[in-house]
Amino acid sequence: LQTLPPVQLAYKYFQLFPDQRDPLWQNPCDDKRHRDIWSKEKTCDRLPKFLVIGPQKTGTTALYLFLVMHPSIISNSPNPKTFEEMQFFNGKNYYKGVDWYMDFFPVPSNLSTDLLFEKSANYFHSEEAPQRVSALVPKAKIITILIDPSDRAYSWYQHQRAHQDSTALKFSFYEVITAGPHAPSYIKSLQRKCLVPGWYAVHIEQWLENFPPSQLLIVDGQHLRTDPANVMDEVQRFLGVSPYYNYSEALTFDSHKGFWCQLLEEGKTKCLGKSKGRKYPPMDTECRTFLSDYYQAHNVELSKLLHRLGQPLPSWLRQELQKVR
Ligand code: A3P
Repeated sequence: LQTLPPVQLAYKYFQLFPDQRDPLWQNPCDDKRHRDIWSKEKTCDRLPKFLVIGPQKTGTTALYLFLVMHPSIISNSPNPKTFEEMQFFNGKNYYKGVDWYMDFFPVPSNLSTDLLFEKSANYFHSEEAPQRVSALVPKAKIITILIDPSDRAYSWYQHQRAHQDSTALKFSFYEVITAGPHAPSYIKSLQRKCLVPGWYAVHIEQWLENFPPSQLLIVDGQHLRTDPANVMDEVQRFLGVSPYYNYSEALTFDSHKGFWCQLLEEGKTKCLGKSKGRKYPPMDTECRTFLSDYYQAHNVELSKLLHRLGQPLPSWLRQELQKVR
């Protein structure tokens, strides 16, 4: 039997098995052999019990705000580099490893009731995230929020304008969404970010390849916006969290903000900041028609998927399907 020093051996191994160069982190406590060599100082309790995966611009921050109001629901501490989101499973942070990820989570004070979670709205359409999440936290529950993908695309475009993105400032929404294959790469890049996350059925299927339907909750973002207390009751039931938290008493509609907000003492409110619930002109009919058409096949697939899962169709989807006939 021949062997090599460890580093050379590793090089040799990855030469022979190049597809294994990309790590796939698993829960160290799920395998006795790993648990036995895992440092006594470490714990596997600092992993999320559920994830809010996005997509962006559907109301994920509102859901986040409402979730952390619950006494047993605890989020990670913020990642200063990525605007508070951890963005672990979808990008380069993944290579920082499991310890890096766990360090963002507190050790739960009550193991039987506390639910740790994180929200990274980029996970939804990430090719890697579903498999990576299922390898590390296979029992985790997954929450996604959907609004009309056309509105999501427009909200993203407006978000980019507000962030002074030069392409979004220079080109109209119509120019961006209708740009052809020979358009400059910066337009096509913005176009992709507007449009691709809205291929809802494609992305949800990826999650369903890695998680049973019982672990996935699809929230209607329009419903979350207009009736958050009822949606939060549904979310609480899905998570099986206790104690029951009465969101009807804890939330109030702030007419100045135009959205539901957290009710504080003395009638004050805590709403999301200026970047959420922006004021911008409504989408024009030309863009709306183009996008309805663009998303038609995707929306039909989504309706089949929801039907298969026995889930009701959100009202925007029913309206879009009527346009097909
Ligand atoms: P707009 O700013 O385009 O209106 P996300 O947090 O995923 O980025 O989503 C932002 C969107 O959440 C906002 O998009 C807004 O419409 C929606 N939203 C839903 N409920 C909200 C709330 N209670 N407060 C603020 N925005 C809310």
